[in-house]
Amino acid sequence: MLRQDVPGGGSTEGARQRPKLVPLRGVPMPDIFLENWEAVQNFRAVPQDIVIATYPKAGTTWVQEIVDFILQDGDAEKCRRAPLQTRIPFLEFSCGSDFTAGTELLEQMSSPRVIKTHLPFQLLPTTFLEQRCKIIYCARNAKDNLVSYYHFDKMNKIQPEPGTWHEYFQKFLQGNVSYGLWHDHVLGWWAQKDLYPILYIFYEDIKEDPKREIRKMMTFLGRDLPESVLDAIARHTSFQAMRCNPMSNYMSVPPDVFDQTVSTFMRKGEVGDWKNHFTVAQDQAFEIDYERRMKGSDLRFRTELQQ
Ligand code: A3P
Repeated sequence: MLRQDVPGGGSTEGARQRPKLVPLRGVPMPDIFLENWEAVQNFRAVPQDIVIATYPKAGTTWVQEIVDFILQDGDAEKCRRAPLQTRIPFLEFSCGSDFTAGTELLEQMSSPRVIKTHLPFQLLPTTFLEQRCKIIYCARNAKDNLVSYYHFDKMNKIQPEPGTWHEYFQKFLQGNVSYGLWHDHVLGWWAQKDLYPILYIFYEDIKEDPKREIRKMMTFLGRDLPESVLDAIARHTSFQAMRCNPMSNYMSVPPDVFDQTVSTFMRKGEVGDWKNHFTVAQDQAFEIDYERRMKGSDLRFRTELQQ
């Protein structure tokens, strides 16, 4: 392998310096990602490209694995050909000269490419829209999304230091985290979903009925797989299966980047874990803020599932 095509694998000497957030057209972004921003902006999409877009920690990895399984006709061996971050590169990822940037990885790939991004709609390079690429946007309820992001930022050394839970809670509500406000992100994509080929799905729905949502993605991607294959995909992409699969659990990322002794990437995979984190006062503050920011929208989330 040349330079690393996964985050990590660069120098492991000493502690990694965490990035700072820098505004990009008003959206806070890790400064290391902006070093390659010109290449992101100049990226040339082709109509066959498929984009998976999310706010961080909304179920990206899950959707990535499902989409790869659909494209590989449910063949688990083919889906074990490489770690997820190589199979489906992260468009705006960039982390210095000893790492392969997402754009560089994508240029080496043949069609159909599947591309991961966390960019808010307004920062997505317009090439994807001009080429009418199919885009799957997955959203997750803000409370669980926040909890998951907090644990992730503790273990991910290429994210700014999260601070305490209380501090992080405030930062999230202020949009002072990578990719900015959750509310702006989910609303921004929601507003575009009928104008472009965008399938807008929800983490909670996949959790509730994986096969139904896998079928939805399959149909959107223009594929037709038999029921038995859909069953197999649901099995292979369950939390338990993905957690044990080295090609999807990010254990291939070195510990100076993802320190999985702090928190595993495949952490809990549940709806409602926020109840184990939010205080009563935090929940009240969150609800007031949520009401204000989401006002006027018909976008609805579920923060728990019926048993
Ligand atoms: P938790 O931290 O709540 O466990 P992303 O891929 O966008 O970074 O999101 C990661 C979150 O999705 C983590 O949530 C992770 O556990 C969860 N996740 C990943 N694969 C999953 C699966 N197969 N089923 C349920 N949740 C999954």
